[in-house]
Amino acid sequence: MPVQNRFAEFADELTEWRRDFHTHPELRFEEHRTAALVAERLEAFGCDEVVTGFGKTGVVAVIKGRETGSGRTLGFRADMDALPITEATGLAYASETAGKMHACGHDGHTTMLLGAAKYLAETRNFDGTIVLIFQPAEEGGGGANLMLKEGLVERFGIDEFYGMHNWPGIEAGQFAVLEGPLMSAAASFTITVKGKGGHGAMPHMSVDTALAASNIVMAMQSVVARNVNPLKSAVISICGMRSDTDTFNVIPDTVVLKGTLRYFDKEVRKVIGERMKAVATHAAAAYGAEAVLRHHSGAVGPTVNDAQAAGHAAVAARAVTGQEPVEIDPVMPAEDFSEMLEAKPGCYVFIGNGPSADLHNPHYNFNDEILPVGASWFATMAETRMPLG
Ligand code: NI
Repeated sequence: MPVQNRFAEFADELTEWRRDFHTHPELRFEEHRTAALVAERLEAFGCDEVVTGFGKTGVVAVIKGRETGSGRTLGFRADMDALPITEATGLAYASETAGKMHACGHDGHTTMLLGAAKYLAETRNFDGTIVLIFQPAEEGGGGANLMLKEGLVERFGIDEFYGMHNWPGIEAGQFAVLEGPLMSAAASFTITVKGKGGHGAMPHMSVDTALAASNIVMAMQSVVARNVNPLKSAVISICGMRSDTDTFNVIPDTVVLKGTLRYFDKEVRKVIGERMKAVATHAAAAYGAEAVLRHHSGAVGPTVNDAQAAGHAAVAARAVTGQEPVEIDPVMPAEDFSEMLEAKPGCYVFIGNGPSADLHNPHYNFNDEILPVGASWFATMAETRMPLG
């Protein structure tokens, strides 16, 4: 029976698992309930090895094929964490916890990989080994990095990594597979603007940090427009602006700006870094203030798909849907699966979530219809990348 028909048979079960994860979202490195359920199911499926507590709250399982002569090991990864957002979907199975929500569909990713695990442990129609990676803390927590530091590649002998993210706006259940860069790098920064606070009615006695900070916000956009090669991509977004006052008549002593950088190219990163510092410093100085720019640790690189691995991913996508993967451009959101792809070649694909609300939106919901399709893709990857002799 074709893989996808087998998955259609347990679509209801997958939906039940997904909605349960959805009701009980857990933030980065707090995925205790999720990880316990994942591990319990992996044990029940008869995986050869189930390791818990890998990367704090991560779970890793091993399924050996009917044959292992190829000596090849594929790592399949799903992320498990939710976001600090209060859900506004009004769904019967909406988050039970205010301020926590599966608004990026990681509940669906975890379920699809669990579904694949169930099928693969039962059938084992492949020649090699599958390592299932249930990663914690994708949302800015460095979960992938921690798992790699704890020896994910070496301990399980992983040769290639594959993963999947749902994507609103792509037709439900269709795949997008891109060679080369797919998602951008991301880094966070803070600019602290210092001046001299004072009475709002006597600005000449103060150094106005609100004015200086506003100038920085405006001037910063010139970096992308005037310093980055127009044929390259970059984003600088200042997303937070907070002064040390919250009144109507006090000029603040300090204003703090927070923002994010996106880019694909290391050279672009270097140019942006240099120019941001110069622009912040001088834009503040124009108003007599001082600005200090700090780049935060925890930046992630661009997600770059290996050409050969993308070819294998497309073969599996065609086998599952009977159609060519849809064509897309690279996107500026980032993904810490990039770190796994830096360690070993592999491919990250998008699966269409249909016309849903956007990722990270309080109205977003993962589309249950695509659960069997995504699970089929993982299973088909195993069977087509490592076929039985
Ligand atoms: Ni996500």
